Amino acid sequence: MKQETSAPGKIILLGEHAVVYGMPAIAASVSTLRVCAAIKAKNIPLTIRTADFAANPNASLERMRALALDYFQSPHPRGEITIRSDIPIARGLGSGAAVSAALGRAIAMLLGRAIPDDVLNRLVFEVEKIHHGTPSGIDNTVVVYERPVYFVKDQPIETLEIKQPLHILIADTGQASLTREAVANVRQLYQRSPIQTQTMLETIGLTVEQARVCIRDGDHVRLGELMTENQQQLQWLNVSSPKLDRLVDSALAAGALGAKLSGGGLGGNMIALVKKSRLNAVKDALTKSGAVGLVATTVK
Ligand code: MEV
Repeated sequence: MKQETSAPGKIILLGEHAVVYGMPAIAASVSTLRVCAAIKAKNIPLTIRTADFAANPNASLERMRALALDYFQSPHPRGEITIRSDIPIARGLGSGAAVSAALGRAIAMLLGRAIPDDVLNRLVFEVEKIHHGTPSGIDNTVVVYERPVYFVKDQPIETLEIKQPLHILIADTGQASLTREAVANVRQLYQRSPIQTQTMLETIGLTVEQARVCIRDGDHVRLGELMTENQQQLQWLNVSSPKLDRLVDSALAAGALGAKLSGGGLGGNMIALVKKSRLNAVKDALTKSGAVGLVATTVK
């Protein structure tokens, strides 16, 4: 038996930030980017080590460990868990949720117990609160269930219907995605201009609804336009950045159907929806415009 668990990264196709205020959002897992947690039976008090990455806050690991051990009513487990991640940390790709999910599964495996996805999802959500206080729950949901979702806070999860696979390029600005600050920016804007901000959040909700229909019907041209509109809406909310804007512009100029930031923003990653025939051209343009990392993924 393989003594290892894992969880994927995620992208938000449309609707980040507005989702915190009850609007719908669409997100998908990125199965090629993963956090893995390897288990070793050792006669030592449970020790959790992180290899290959350092930036993950220990507070999150400690919280997940405490929540999982409490769920299993197992106060004194023994053994060692080593976590490895190939999801760039703090880039809006859900690395925090993936670390928590992989760790929760590893603790279950170490104890010889099962952890149902709905329980794991709830525990990872609790840990997510450390990151920015008021998470919508979208990151933990996509990462735990590992499927494309149409998500509304506090509503049952809906799997997204996808007629044609979506070819997406994910490009890294090289800057940290400051989710906490970005969420605070939106909150401040809401406090300063409640009517305009509420109107913008509802407009984003309508954009997401239209996008859902396009994804269901395979209309990628219109879907791309909606993603680019969503980027303009996110700029209005003060969560984009000059580097994100530059990468978005260069992807569009090179023939992407649509482009936008993905996740918290203020840095981190952007995504571009690209026809297969334009993938290389858009990749080259993003690299020339300063992308420090590029991942191609297909949402299906
Ligand atoms: C972060 O991936 C998405 C945000 O909408 C925050 C959240 O939904 O919790 C910015």
